[in-house]
Amino acid sequence: MNPKIKVVLEQAKSKIEQARVIKDLEQTYVEIFGRDGLVTNLTKQIKDIDPKDRASFGQSVNSAKKEIVEYFAKKRSSLVISRSSTSIDITAPGKKTQLGHLHLVSQAIEEIVDIFKKLGYSLQSYPEIDWDWYAFESLNMPKNHPARDDWETFFIKGDTNPKYGNLVLTPHTSNGQLREMERAKNPPIRMINIARCYRRQIDVSHTPMFHQFEGLFVDKNVSITDLKGTFDFFTSHFFGPKRVTRLRPHHFRFTEPSFEVDVTCGICMGKGCRLCKAGWLELGGSGMVHPKVLKAGGIDPAKYNGFAFGWGIERTIAMKTELPDIRLLFQNDIRFLEQF
Ligand code: PHE
Repeated sequence: MNPKIKVVLEQAKSKIEQARVIKDLEQTYVEIFGRDGLVTNLTKQIKDIDPKDRASFGQSVNSAKKEIVEYFAKKRSSLVISRSSTSIDITAPGKKTQLGHLHLVSQAIEEIVDIFKKLGYSLQSYPEIDWDWYAFESLNMPKNHPARDDWETFFIKGDTNPKYGNLVLTPHTSNGQLREMERAKNPPIRMINIARCYRRQIDVSHTPMFHQFEGLFVDKNVSITDLKGTFDFFTSHFFGPKRVTRLRPHHFRFTEPSFEVDVTCGICMGKGCRLCKAGWLELGGSGMVHPKVLKAGGIDPAKYNGFAFGWGIERTIAMKTELPDIRLLFQNDIRFLEQF
């Protein structure tokens, strides 16, 4: 082999040999095959060689080139292997993929359903767009009754059914009471109905779309004590064992007597603080099912009675997590949602 070629071959090999990491090898490649590289310069010299020796010189350059390329490839794979065997710390914690979680409202729904299942209630789903009959009329709220105004209802334009009236976006889940009586036919009934509700209201404690859960219990000899015990069971499981409820007299057309249910404030535990003022937070409405409602549902009020309640899910979440503004729940701001 021509001594010139031999020198280049040796130089190239030793350069390759010196590479410690893949990045060094990239640099070495440029030094050998780049524009001013060792092999490139050697190739350039072919034209200056005496014509009678040129062919064999050219061949030798080519075979040297081939040898260097092979050498290069070997070194490269040895560096790749050594990198994977030495520089990976298998004890290092893996990169965590960010996991999402259920929305707060869905989490609360699951919790609420679980608690009522323990008491033998079954989850039912009733329409979120329903007839006036189910939302109002059958609940002892005749047309033009001023009590209807409390529900800030969205009415849907369209045909009117002679018995059922117009369609409305349900302003509460109480339409589920009649629907459940029709479905179950015979007591005992223990239903929980969770659905979206709609009202024309928006501020820190209201959104035009929200969720309610409606409970209905119908059997023989149901008493207010049963109702109170049920609420205490729910409250201690949902808010914690130290929280208790109280009933305040109220008025709903579909329950008699009616109550507003309060729960002790989680911050001051009933002593009174800036959030609750007098120690109690309002959970929602309840009462003993009005005989007229039972009758409308085909149940004999002389034989059976029961209680019902309807509470807002967003409100219960706000009371549990001390949310300052219910609208936060629907703004889908990841910085807020991530906190739960
Ligand atoms: N539907 C009532 C409301 O939305 C709550 C309620 C339900 C009251 C059942 C009594 C019984 O305010």
